[in-house]
Amino acid sequence: VTIYVPRDSAALSVGADLVAATIEHEAAAAGRPIRLVRNGSRGMLWLETLVEVETERGRIGYGPVGPDDVAGLVAEGLLDGADHDLCQGVVEDLPWLRDQTRLCFARVGVTDPLSPQDYVAHGGLAGLRRALSLTPAEVVAEVTESGLRGRGGAGFPAGIKWKTVLDTPGPLKFICCNADEGDSGTFADRMLMEGDPFTLIEGMTIAAHAVGASEGYIYVRSEYPDAVRALRQAIDIARTQGWLGEHVLGSELRFDLFVRVGAGAYICGEETAMLESLEGKRGMVRAKPPIPAITGLFGKPTVVNNVLTLGSVPAILADGAAAYRDLGVERSRGTQVFQLAGNIARGGVFETAFGITLSDLIYQYGGGTRSGRPVRAVQVGGPLGQYLPASNLDLPMDYEAFAAADAMLGHGGIVVFDETVDMASMARFAMEFCAEESCGKCTPCRVGAVRGVEVIDRIVAGEDPDGNLALLGDLCELMTEGSLCAMGGLTPNPVRSALLHFPDDFTARYEEAK
Ligand code: NAI
Ligand code: SF4
Repeated sequence: VTIYVPRDSAALSVGADLVAATIEHEAAAAGRPIRLVRNGSRGMLWLETLVEVETERGRIGYGPVGPDDVAGLVAEGLLDGADHDLCQGVVEDLPWLRDQTRLCFARVGVTDPLSPQDYVAHGGLAGLRRALSLTPAEVVAEVTESGLRGRGGAGFPAGIKWKTVLDTPGPLKFICCNADEGDSGTFADRMLMEGDPFTLIEGMTIAAHAVGASEGYIYVRSEYPDAVRALRQAIDIARTQGWLGEHVLGSELRFDLFVRVGAGAYICGEETAMLESLEGKRGMVRAKPPIPAITGLFGKPTVVNNVLTLGSVPAILADGAAAYRDLGVERSRGTQVFQLAGNIARGGVFETAFGITLSDLIYQYGGGTRSGRPVRAVQVGGPLGQYLPASNLDLPMDYEAFAAADAMLGHGGIVVFDETVDMASMARFAMEFCAEESCGKCTPCRVGAVRGVEVIDRIVAGEDPDGNLALLGDLCELMTEGSLCAMGGLTPNPVRSALLHFPDDFTARYEEAK
């Protein structure tokens, strides 16, 4: 019998290694040989550790399983897929999974992330094989026609970026994957790197063929040691399989891939700071233009894409641009891997076509708040995203619909807060975060964020609130207009939205004290 226990770090953090070892021990003691597969996570994080048993009915899930539950579970028929309090039924039939459209995450949780046989058996390499049968310009056209936009947050069309690199002549070009996933409430990049690293490798190799690059770098944040390990092992395996190296899959393509680990700076997720860091320098933002597509790593033409952008490419090449473009709404085509976090009953990843509403994600799938109290605010798009009030959650997940509502979709992270949240503290936190993480290159951000914390403190303390509110408004405008990059430029988003939707929180403390 085959048993699956995730090796994803979310599962490891709640004891998956011990669960796996205990299952092996108990099965041996019961004289029942098992094949233990360490898969990725299915993304239903409230069920971790989710143990799955292969049966004739399909894979039966049990969760959340703690190490102490294992002996009882095995005694009560776990290895036969028997019913039990922790039994969730056939995993693929659970609404959370059944209702998703998994393209980027098709194999995550299903396969052994480091098994090349599993990868190929589940559709891996089909995209790369097709790409290699096309010219670079045809691959770029396919990506452009699919409507794929950068999943890192800015939503720039991937095909146009690739075309710029293809059209920029040069003997040396690079593919850089931005895996410095620093946004609060986001973890999809990590889950793909740990749960199906070959997909990212395949996507980067397709990009290399498309633009004429020979070297690739994956820049991973240091907080992701399991992802770093998985990627390095996967790259070694890919080399021995002939998926990377001199003649990729027997073709003329020469492409190799390396992992580089960051050192804990949020700003290194900004693409030019990431390139500086990759070059061995301090992670400071470079002025744009020139854009990295033309003058990137070591001054060479460089594709910089997020993990999910590159991870979506194999499915686009395998199934064709039209199949991808048929999903989604307006100018947001295909699927996005949404991430539910914060005060939420059921947190995890949910890959679906753009257009689903924020409230469906939060209530129908997320089950509302974990505390059971009403939702008060939701932050979408990381720490620089706006706070949306509970009355405005019918928004469709679509780049333009969000922009029209003065919000941003970003990397698809959704952080939920209940009615106990103090939005003045959240606004202060935004400025504090910026002061902490600013690279220091430009004054509006470096100095503005520090002044922002001070002025919010004065407002909350009741010192000349009207004057200080006007000052905060001016400061936000200056940071938005005058900052060199998105860090300083977007920090006013959470501050302004907190002031707009939750003004009473800024006056509550001194009103109470009166
Ligand atoms: P941007 O709009 O300046 O650029 C977007 C991308 O398009 C860049 O790669 C840029 O080089 C490229 N580009 C622009 N014009 C081009 C052209 N003509 N040809 C080819 N390529 C071109 O946005 P930026 O500053 O790179 O990103 C800001 C976003 O990052 C924010 O909206 C935020 O959502 C997101 N973000 C994501 C984080 C994460 O953890 N994933 C963390 C912080 C912010
Ligand atoms: Fe650096 Fe902040 Fe200026 Fe960006 S906005 S360049 S992080 S100082």
